[in-house]
Amino acid sequence: MSMRDFPKLELHLHLEGAAPPAFIRGLAREKSVDISGVFGADGGYAFRDFGHFLQVYEAATSVLTTPEDYARLVTAVLEESAANGVIYSEVFLSPDFCGGSDVAAWREYLHAMQEAAARAEARDGIVLRGVVTCIRHFGPERARAPALCAAETAGAFITGFGIAGDETAGRPRDFTWSFDLAREAGLRLTAHAGEWGGPVSVREAIADLGVERIGHGVRAAEDPRLVDQLAETGVVLEVCPGSNVALGLYPSWQRHPIQTLRERGVRVTVSTDDPPFFRTSMVREYEELARAFGWEAGDFLEIARNALDAAFCDADTKGRLADRLKDHPT
Ligand code: HPA
Ligand code: ZN
Repeated sequence: MSMRDFPKLELHLHLEGAAPPAFIRGLAREKSVDISGVFGADGGYAFRDFGHFLQVYEAATSVLTTPEDYARLVTAVLEESAANGVIYSEVFLSPDFCGGSDVAAWREYLHAMQEAAARAEARDGIVLRGVVTCIRHFGPERARAPALCAAETAGAFITGFGIAGDETAGRPRDFTWSFDLAREAGLRLTAHAGEWGGPVSVREAIADLGVERIGHGVRAAEDPRLVDQLAETGVVLEVCPGSNVALGLYPSWQRHPIQTLRERGVRVTVSTDDPPFFRTSMVREYEELARAFGWEAGDFLEIARNALDAAFCDADTKGRLADRLKDHPT
């Protein structure tokens, strides 16, 4: 089995976080903006820890200022994902960075991104769907505007709503207004939890926001009763092992809890989070998981099926993706 050719579905990818450093450097040069501080000596993104990562992320994102910039970004990101064998990508989109969460501006950014996604699908067969995110450390008041943007544009392309940013800021229940609005608009829900917060953060995201998926969620492994609850209720974890190892949450791939969670019956999926920041890719995730846990074709097929089941896209799209999984010789 070639890791590259194996069909992959990715459910947890931050659009700006997937921007190749050369792409961001090029835009900075075009606009004569000095963001040299975000890059290290090797030309890649450089940061000390998660707090600094969020600062570097926002600095890099500051050169993306027009719908056309975002269209070019979608093209670059999907090209890279398709080259990694990704057939379906659910991407976190932040109206806060796309016109300051003004609904009219957001519609323009969205239109440009959707056109770029349609071109990528026609060329490479990769399907993109958007999950609008609010940003936790911007606070609950500022989360209302992206929720309104999400509700106004909910449909076949914008399928979900979530929360990213600094998990240690505030509590999930502070954001119920935004999540309730998104749910009423028909959006599916996910939240970053159980990465920098422990099991309680996961419990609260489920109980207070009513999410059906958790971004990361790996710290749930520290609480056997929570692990049982996840297994029984079928809450799906968007696990990003390379991101966790890069940020020092676990000292090695072997010590990552993804395999234990799986063995305990939790439905896990595999994603890259912010691949160039964490020096990873979907192919690298698969290679490291195979090396650390002996995963083979059957294991990766189970992961892909979990992602297909948990994807927020409509039934027609799922049917087409299911056919592509079925067609793949393992
Ligand atoms: N985690 C949390 N918030 C983020 C991330 C991430 O990896 N990327 C962009 N916002
Ligand atoms: Zn994330």
